[in-house]
Amino acid sequence: MSRLIVISNRVSPPAEVGNASVGGLAMALSAALREENGMWFGWSGEVAESSGQISIQKIGGVTVALTHLEEQDVQEYYNGYANKTLWPLFHYRTDLVAFERSFDEGYSRVNQRFADTVSPLIVEDDLIWVQDYHLIPLASKLREQGVKNRIGFFLHIPWPAMRVLMTLPKHGELVETMFDYDLVGFQTEDNMHAFTEYVINQAGGEDLGDGRLRAYGKTIQVGAYPIGIDAKEFVEASRSQTAKDYWDLMRDSQAGRKMIVGVERLDYSKGLEERFTAYDQFLRDYPQYERNVFLLQIATPSRGEVGAYQDIRGKLDTLSGHINGEHSTIDWVPLRYVNRSYRRDELAGIYRAAHVGLVTPLRDGMNLVAKEYVAAQNPADPGVLVLSEFAGAAAQMRDALIVNPFDREAVSEAIHEALSMPLKQRVARYEGLIHGIMTEDVVSWRKNFTNDLKGKPPVKKPEPLV
Ligand code: ADP
Ligand code: F6P
Repeated sequence: MSRLIVISNRVSPPAEVGNASVGGLAMALSAALREENGMWFGWSGEVAESSGQISIQKIGGVTVALTHLEEQDVQEYYNGYANKTLWPLFHYRTDLVAFERSFDEGYSRVNQRFADTVSPLIVEDDLIWVQDYHLIPLASKLREQGVKNRIGFFLHIPWPAMRVLMTLPKHGELVETMFDYDLVGFQTEDNMHAFTEYVINQAGGEDLGDGRLRAYGKTIQVGAYPIGIDAKEFVEASRSQTAKDYWDLMRDSQAGRKMIVGVERLDYSKGLEERFTAYDQFLRDYPQYERNVFLLQIATPSRGEVGAYQDIRGKLDTLSGHINGEHSTIDWVPLRYVNRSYRRDELAGIYRAAHVGLVTPLRDGMNLVAKEYVAAQNPADPGVLVLSEFAGAAAQMRDALIVNPFDREAVSEAIHEALSMPLKQRVARYEGLIHGIMTEDVVSWRKNFTNDLKGKPPVKKPEPLV
């Protein structure tokens, strides 16, 4: 039986899998790795004096292979090219993109080191699945080592429009490396079309139909594989004792007020500044909600060594203080702003207590919080999801109230519409959403991807240009 080898920047320690603090993706990948006798390879998250060593352990049926990075790698590859160059660029924040040659070199060096470290572990028939923007050139490096196995790549974040991508120095070289995969997966059809447009118009490539693209003398398969959550697990988590305790805690502290919730990493792509401004607008537009509503915004600090993340944190501190200073009364605080993270079963209880889930990223690959919020609702009395049209999830979740997060007046109106929506309409919208969440879940996502990857011929041969 062929093994599945998952390679990602970070590896979630499997000791924590099964524990409620580990995300659905980690659970789903671990389940896949157990079923397919696999191995998960990536960065341990630790910094070491020298890199290239690997520690392999078998836990819960999953072989985990970890490698450390050196301080320079963390700065140039993770904080640098991944999170100062590609992340803002792929999220359309060209104003925040920093490009330095040292970042590019660090990115290439770490991808090379990953390839050097993992390739001796690969045997014939292993299926290799590379995750996300940190490791785009990995297949190319593995091919240079003679690896002929089928290799797939899934991009968790958006693929940008052609003209946006072209602001990246050496964009063509980056795209060329993607032609060393057999299968490249995107979150949405839109993302896949943006990639195709680049390949045809910039790389002089050809769309061969049936998802096959040809350029640089090679043919790859592309597809849209919208990622889902572990829906069954999340529904169960929302019925757990911990979730009930959190639901009670929230209900007690709500004192009859309606609650709006936002949950994310503290990231500028999540549109938190715009959300706070829209909420401020809402409090002005609808004074009848004074003392009757509050927004709970949970935002976990993320990538704190990157300047743009320090800046957005500072801005949100100021803005939240401003909103509370402006609107609070002696017995009401309209915005509860919390910079910590919660376990999944705790989160499920918090989501369930909220009348509105406010998910308004300016740009997002998918956005799993939107799906978790719906999965956690009480089917007999569900809350309403307000969702940005620029989240990948909006393509699937048409029964949400879809908003333009840049339009603060429209977001203010949508909050009002959600808070005042009659039960019958809330139930109808919930039913429209939950079906997709349960069926297009994380298990079907990885099965669709790995089945398509297995369907390819095992040995990749460059094809002559016509
Ligand atoms: P991203 O991958 O960009 O962070 P997603 O919404 O797709 O955004 O996924 C975020 C995941 O992290 C979700 O599973 C969500 O529950 C979890 N998460 C985000 N913020 C928190 C938090 N403050 N506490 C616990 N989990 C969180
Ligand atoms: O979803 C995008 C993503 O970058 C994942 O690849 C990553 O695991 C997650 O966000 C958290 O980011 P980081 O690993 O930089 O903390």
